[in-house]
Amino acid sequence: MTTARTSDLWWKNAVVYCLDVETFLDWDGDGVGDIRGLTERIDYLAGIGVSCIWLMPFQPSPNRDDGYDITDYYGVDHRLGSLGDFVTLIRTAKDRGIRVIVDLVVNHTSDRHPWFREARSSPDNRFRDFYVWRDRPTRTQKASIVFPDAEDSIWAWDDKSEQFYLHHFYSHQPDLNIGNQQVRDEIAKVAGFWLELGVDGFRVDAVPFLIDTSEVPDVDLDPHEILKHLRSFISRRRGDGLLLGEVNLHPEQLIDFFGGEDADEVQLLFNFPLMEATWLSLARQDAGPIAEALRQTIEVSIDCQYANFLRNHDELTLDKLSEDERLEVFDAFGPEEDMQVFGRGLRRRLPSMFDGDDRRIRMAYSLMFSLPGTPVLFYGEEIGMGENLAIDGRMSVRTPMQWSDEENGGFSKARPSRLRRPVVEGRFGPLAVNVAAQRRDPESLLSWMERLIRRRRETPELGWGTWDVVKTNVSSVFAHRCDWEGRTVVAAHNLGEQPCVVRLQLGDVPKDGRLDDLLDDRGATALSDDGTLELKMDGYGFRWFRITTSEQHTPP
Ligand code: NOJ
Repeated sequence: MTTARTSDLWWKNAVVYCLDVETFLDWDGDGVGDIRGLTERIDYLAGIGVSCIWLMPFQPSPNRDDGYDITDYYGVDHRLGSLGDFVTLIRTAKDRGIRVIVDLVVNHTSDRHPWFREARSSPDNRFRDFYVWRDRPTRTQKASIVFPDAEDSIWAWDDKSEQFYLHHFYSHQPDLNIGNQQVRDEIAKVAGFWLELGVDGFRVDAVPFLIDTSEVPDVDLDPHEILKHLRSFISRRRGDGLLLGEVNLHPEQLIDFFGGEDADEVQLLFNFPLMEATWLSLARQDAGPIAEALRQTIEVSIDCQYANFLRNHDELTLDKLSEDERLEVFDAFGPEEDMQVFGRGLRRRLPSMFDGDDRRIRMAYSLMFSLPGTPVLFYGEEIGMGENLAIDGRMSVRTPMQWSDEENGGFSKARPSRLRRPVVEGRFGPLAVNVAAQRRDPESLLSWMERLIRRRRETPELGWGTWDVVKTNVSSVFAHRCDWEGRTVVAAHNLGEQPCVVRLQLGDVPKDGRLDDLLDDRGATALSDDGTLELKMDGYGFRWFRITTSEQHTPP
């Protein structure tokens, strides 16, 4: 039973770690991280226990959007290495039991991609229809502009061919015409190529934009059919190949991208609404918003799941909150204008938002790891890295990984001025926050995170089970339960700084239920027959329990 089965849909019990090769480890000393450097650190990643790494784009690119503007889908940016290095990386990761997924950025190309160069060269070029052209632009809805600091329309004028082209992101990222069968074939070819090189799937960039055909003239194509075709292609090539979708929409819209009951589109979707509500709860020290968001999270087919995260490589978007709620989060975690971006998000990392409060940092990660679904970490979160606000926009959180207290945080032997991006300075910089020191300290965040990751992997109920919000009598305590194959895991998180005694009303529990403390053992806690559990909780305290019957084995 149980654990053996979890290897089938491997991503339901995975711990995903996102990183950018160019800021992870610079092996050849040119100031830019490289695939060789990452390969040398695969044992580090295996050691902390992550089971899947997600690589941000590493293909050739003019880097005007940090690699999300690709000029060659079949290559590796020469600063980062070669395809040969890539294959060595995959081989090494596999050997250490780590899967690798890569970003699939096919909503748009760079405007320097040969397809676009050809397309704009003349209206009757054979690549013209790879993109979307108009004599007159349609009206742009303000909400559809993703980067309002730089763009005011989703149409840009092309002097050369004297028409407008569609771009949902920056104007140097022309949207591909998904209505064109040739484009869809090319996308499948790209995915097929990386699968053949051994990747385990893709984080699909900007999915709603990718499949949107509303701006494509004369196309009668159900957008979700596009996703179904891509998924079926991936599954034909590789049965357990994963699509992890970036879809930042409300729950009832989100669910469509799984493919409903057929579960034949994306298997894993980031739960943006739950993430945003979590931040509101953290700001208010009140369980209300997260409890409500979890109630609204729609249960999905056994073949699908949500992915949870607290921070990623972009801004901490708060676009789903009301204006007032967003301001509450800004006030609590990023009051200065320079900490905010696009009017909707924060460009900070979590530890600095919590002013380095270690109890609160651990509580927040324990909470994220306990939520139903697959946890996703962004590199450096395991050691508590901060941001560098001197770097523009969203790049403030994409600073070099902090390996040691040496120059450049041990990321590179190059002169600091040659680094791809400067390291963080001050309180959260490498002198204070680095891997080398933390791995020698059993009390460090890194050591604790390793234990959390191990425990999460041993707790498949959280990835596979059904879930319920648990009633409590203290407003700052959020509690929920996940049930799977006769076992129940209960987690309680005190979002407030005041200690408390809380009563959880668990509802149905086995009569002779045994309670095991899954994190720190704080002594016996009794479960009453009516399913009530009374807990003493520290300020920012957190507890995970498993309830089993006497016939069941429990992990140590
Ligand atoms: C979403 C990515 O996360 C972001 O970094 C990028 O700028 C846009 N998609 C465009 O590719």
